[in-house]
Amino acid sequence: MLKTIEWTEAGVVMLDQLKLPTEEVYNTYTSYKEVAEAITTMVIRGAPAIGVAAAMGIALGIKNSQAADYAALEKEFTQICDMMGKTRPTAVNLFWAIERMRRKFQETDKNVATIKAALEEEAKAVYAEDLAQCKAIAEHGGALLPAQATVLTHCNAGALAVAGGYGTALGVIRGAVELNKDIKVLCTETRPYLQGARLTAWELLHDGIDTTLITDNMAGHFMKQGEISCVVVGADRIAANGDTANKIGTYSIAILAKEHGIPFYVAAPFSTVDFNTPSGETIPIEERSREEIVKIKGVQIAPDGIGVRHPAFDVTPASYITGIITEKGVAEPPFETTLKKLSAL
Ligand code: MRU
Repeated sequence: MLKTIEWTEAGVVMLDQLKLPTEEVYNTYTSYKEVAEAITTMVIRGAPAIGVAAAMGIALGIKNSQAADYAALEKEFTQICDMMGKTRPTAVNLFWAIERMRRKFQETDKNVATIKAALEEEAKAVYAEDLAQCKAIAEHGGALLPAQATVLTHCNAGALAVAGGYGTALGVIRGAVELNKDIKVLCTETRPYLQGARLTAWELLHDGIDTTLITDNMAGHFMKQGEISCVVVGADRIAANGDTANKIGTYSIAILAKEHGIPFYVAAPFSTVDFNTPSGETIPIEERSREEIVKIKGVQIAPDGIGVRHPAFDVTPASYITGIITEKGVAEPPFETTLKKLSAL
């Protein structure tokens, strides 16, 4: 199984996604500040993986704490959670994980050693649940795909975007392959950060899944040619009405899919559904640096002084989404009702 992140006695071990696809390097992070920085700098990325990293970072910070009493530990806990919360704004899994750790802190006996142990257990539970949820997504999604299909995916919603193993959108693909379906994948390179070219291409090749890389602006062409059976992407935040924030470019692909009558699926664990956000309009969209646009691997590709915009995510309205594949089953429109029903299971 491909491992993205792991809790060890020495610290939190993460596969350095900045070095892929040319180097496969696992680093050990020994403080919560290092874990927070790894999230910000995208050593680890992908909504569920960010959640797991935040939970482990918090547990690590508390494990390393020198606080002598509950009050001091609580103060430190708040500082750690605040720092984690400032790493990346769009993926709700981050805030979901912080909230979960906060609840565990509050409901545990006010004893420093007990809290340390409880938070470590909770972070391990977040990790284990993520793996199990992705396996369930793979089963539900794998059953949904036709016996023969070419699936377009955007960004990386695979093992590298979760704790490891199946992934979400790529979990659906892996699930279908496990059912012996004849699956081919087209993955977009995903400008500007190239998660598709660097990460999705790498992990699908790793698994021997038939994968072809295209640039983002080729999606419409291949749809028109009849070469794409369906689209499956991940999500960073799903509003209560089904509007979905995902990697920039997802919205354009969804419109293209609808125009060509191609099913468009979102695959995500329930920790990505934000029932407190009624629609996509209020989902915060991260703006990243101009450097990531004007340079590729350090090589300048645009003139000095050019203005740059860099929203890292966009929102696909629910009306473009055929189904949302979760660990509890597949929600179909109207999502406002079906997501609620599934969450209660
Ligand atoms: O900026 P990133 O690489 O963290 O963005 C990742 C995505 O947009 C993924 O599609 C999303 O987080 C789902 S991951 C299962």
